Amino acid sequence: MLLIAIAADIAGACSEHDVQQTPNLLLSSDRLTAEHATCSKLRSVPQDATGPRDQSGRYVKGSKPVLIRNATIWTGEPVPGTSLEDAHAGKGYAWISSDVYMEHGLIKRVEPAISVDSLSHDCDVWDAQGGLLTSGIVDMHSHTGVDSLPDLVGSEDTNELSNDITPYVRSIDGLNPLDPQLQVIKSGGVTTSLVLPGSGNNIGGEAFVIKHAVGKPDGRPEISAEDMLADPEKHWRYMKMACGENAKRVYGTVGREFGPFSRLGEAWYFRHAFEQASTLVKAQDDWCDAADRLGAENMPDYLPMDLHWESLGAVLRGQVMVNTHCYTIPDLEAFVRHTNEFKFPVRAFHHAHGTYLVPEILKRAYGDRPPAAALFADNMYYKAEAYVASEQAGKILYDSGITPVYVSDNPVLNAQHVVFEAAKAYRYGLPYHAALAGVTSASAELLGLGERIGKVKPGFDADIVVWDSDPLSVGATPIQVWIDGTAQYDAPVELKKPAPEPMKPDIALADVGAEMVGKADVIFAGVSKVVLPGTEYQLNTEGSLGHVVVRKGVITCVGRCQDDILAAQGDRVEVLQLRNGHLAPPITAFGSFLGVEEIAAEEDTQDGENDESTFSAALDGLLFGSKSLNAAYSHGVTRAISAPAFKNGGHKGVSVGFKTGALHALDEGAVWNDEAAAHYTLTLAAKQGKTPSLSSAVSELRTKLLKAVDANATDARLSLEDRKLNEVVAGKTALVIDVHSADIIASVLRLKAEVEAATAAKSSESHAIRLVIFGGAESHLLAPELAAANVSVVLAPLLAYGVSWDQRRSLTGAPLTNGTAIGILHAAGVKVAIGTSEDWETRDLALYAGIAHVNSGGKISESEALKMVSSNIYEMLGLKEKYVAGPGDFVVYDGNPLQIDSRVRAVADGRGVVSVWT
Ligand SMILES: *[C@@H]1O[C@H](CO)[C@@H](O)[C@H](O)[C@H]1NC(C)=O
Ligand SMILES: *[C@@H]1O[C@H](CO)[C@@H](O)[C@H](O)[C@H]1NC(C)=O
Ligand SMILES: *[C@@H]1O[C@H](CO)[C@@H](O)[C@H](O)[C@H]1NC(C)=O
Ligand SMILES: *[C@@H]1O[C@H](CO)[C@@H](O)[C@H](O)[C@H]1NC(C)=O
Repeated sequence: MLLIAIAADIAGACSEHDVQQTPNLLLSSDRLTAEHATCSKLRSVPQDATGPRDQSGRYVKGSKPVLIRNATIWTGEPVPGTSLEDAHAGKGYAWISSDVYMEHGLIKRVEPAISVDSLSHDCDVWDAQGGLLTSGIVDMHSHTGVDSLPDLVGSEDTNELSNDITPYVRSIDGLNPLDPQLQVIKSGGVTTSLVLPGSGNNIGGEAFVIKHAVGKPDGRPEISAEDMLADPEKHWRYMKMACGENAKRVYGTVGREFGPFSRLGEAWYFRHAFEQASTLVKAQDDWCDAADRLGAENMPDYLPMDLHWESLGAVLRGQVMVNTHCYTIPDLEAFVRHTNEFKFPVRAFHHAHGTYLVPEILKRAYGDRPPAAALFADNMYYKAEAYVASEQAGKILYDSGITPVYVSDNPVLNAQHVVFEAAKAYRYGLPYHAALAGVTSASAELLGLGERIGKVKPGFDADIVVWDSDPLSVGATPIQVWIDGTAQYDAPVELKKPAPEPMKPDIALADVGAEMVGKADVIFAGVSKVVLPGTEYQLNTEGSLGHVVVRKGVITCVGRCQDDILAAQGDRVEVLQLRNGHLAPPITAFGSFLGVEEIAAEEDTQDGENDESTFSAALDGLLFGSKSLNAAYSHGVTRAISAPAFKNGGHKGVSVGFKTGALHALDEGAVWNDEAAAHYTLTLAAKQGKTPSLSSAVSELRTKLLKAVDANATDARLSLEDRKLNEVVAGKTALVIDVHSADIIASVLRLKAEVEAATAAKSSESHAIRLVIFGGAESHLLAPELAAANVSVVLAPLLAYGVSWDQRRSLTGAPLTNGTAIGILHAAGVKVAIGTSEDWETRDLALYAGIAHVNSGGKISESEALKMVSSNIYEMLGLKEKYVAGPGDFVVYDGNPLQIDSRVRAVADGRGVVSVWT
């Protein structure tokens, strides 16, 4: 206090120029001078990393130059001279034939027919054979490295939950370069990720942009997180913030002094934090201004510093790109208010499922550009905040001048497939070039690295992917990935596919205004393919497009149909024109919580969860009239088989077969199988209550089944569980077990043999248990054993990755592994189906069938793949209802349902009407 007063006196008494200062003998003048020097750093405003250089800052001496010959390249830019307006509309973008030369960690030349004579003599040549080449994929929302997989307590470093406001922590301090997921992600073409702290806190801490190259095998000098930094010169800093549900769930406790308990509290915690940071910034600025005037050695005190608020101060100084997890209108609006109150920009709102409703609110944010929206394409409804989400969000935002980008939130989605999010965004109406930009150039630009990564252009970092098919096509897989010009795979597994061709962007997908109407009669024109197994309806118009005539909800004619059409025209039946129309069988969702749960994080919207001592029938808790059921139905999933949920994950109880389009359970045909199968769970979730170990859970199931072998199956007063178990041991009801671990699957196979032996010992009539493995991440390890035991597998998800310990031996596919579980099980003769592990995935079942087909090297045909999401399920469960696909049950698509540019135009589920989207 005293020193400040003295300084003020001096400053007040003398004019600035002739002041005779008395150096303060209590302070170190060296330190004062050094701190004065930091003032310019405090005041500096970062610029984006610049473009062309001679050598990348990440270049490792000794890395050889590479010439990629004969590629088909998406540069990520329109041709020079394209106006902004045209570029926004996608004009000037094209795939071009060219070579790429990379040296010193940079792309040096992108030109056709580069002569080797003009290049460094030690250059490697890689023949792309016309393959499709893009820049590496950029994922600007990942937790890889801090949320290491498989999830283990010891390596979980996502959220610093000691306080709601932790701007002072940094993701790089927990980043584990040996997280195997870093390599899995790269195998999907992702070369750069923004590693954010989690969203448990309102202010989560600093984030870092990394490249997925680790240690010597990836061309790096050593295994080090620091060495992974994408921008070693550190132009920008990044910070994660989060609004809404998470922080109040994590911290809110009634009466506790610190919260937040509500959004009201969150806004206060944000503002209070910004106020602290702002106080620090002002004190520093005052000090620096005074030191400029008076000379550092004359300052009465040192530069104010406070590590607690340093990084948030940098936010207010405009040196940090803020990325904020924010879903809802109140959250977005509150956060935009904070940006204006404290004058800092927000670079992107993440998750952002509500942004498409309020682009103008985003435009009110502080700064000279509105924040972008970092989205999932169709992962939605999982929490209350995500319940307003729209599949069309990307397109709507893009049309409103807000940049949509697509992110994984790895491990929420496996970032290996983040390009599939962009593909689905394209499917839902975002223009092709904008969808691709949403995982390359637009994301790079939002990281301040738009002149370094995300495009194939001289002077950019040499991060390149060559794909086996168009990157936005179903199942697109890298053949090779380069980071800083170094090929990342010595012997990549390459899938057998037809010669790759770029997709022809389908602008009809942008027409998203379709309304659903129910019609009894309709004529579909422009039909090129009809696949309705077991019916007489096969298209035989010899190459020309045919018609499908529907009367009273039932197909009456396929083909030329002149008479039917004439008759229908007399009745003024509407003709619906299809683009490359396909008729395909309806899809059945198996293993989702459709009908028993609407919002995963909201108990009130669910039937509830059974625990180790309860067992129920899903039929008794079936819930209709939900958005998830609507979404399933509108994607051609007319039927679902759902079991009650089990506490902590999985299923327990009796599943029900029902129609997703029904109004309620008493609607005619709504429930077509009261008791489809008996379900138990032996994943890690099985360790609870009276079965604290996996061994005790297996043992309990064994005891129950052996008891059933001895029981009197005719006793009408048996409990539901005893009755079902009696049916299971008699081979009349399928036993479906949620299990991933190959070791526990082995236990289940032994258990099956034991119970069957007990049945055989008791009666002359021996029965095989109809066993179905659900989940099955590691089931490929036991493919021959499963085939020998006649056990079928429902893969859920189709493409497992090592999220949890019991899934760590998942096969993630090319270029890392030779195939995935589905191909290996199929080749071994195991009956396979594709289930869903989360409800939103039911939308994508047809595309999953597409992946199973297109990535099978010709071994799984299209029609076999479609059976994996329909009839196979009925066969493996041995249901008395045969799978229905026929004149009254069908789905009409524009395009091939297994391909990305298909769209459902009509659905019929045997109720006498066709739902048509016009
Ligand atoms: C590029 O590759 C394609 C596909 O393999 C081939 O047909 C073509 O001849 C190649 N062009 C050159 C210039 O090598
Ligand atoms: C099984 O139950 C039925 C009906 O309750 C009874 O008539 C029959 O004797 C029982 N059989 C055995 C073996 O207990
Ligand atoms: C395998 O199981 C299915 C149904 O569970 C049954 O129809 C079939 O006969 C069994 N095959 C063998 C070889 O046991
Ligand atoms: C991948 O597996 C298939 C089928 O088992 C085998 O024929 C092929 O040789 C394997 N490829 C590689 C690269 O190991």
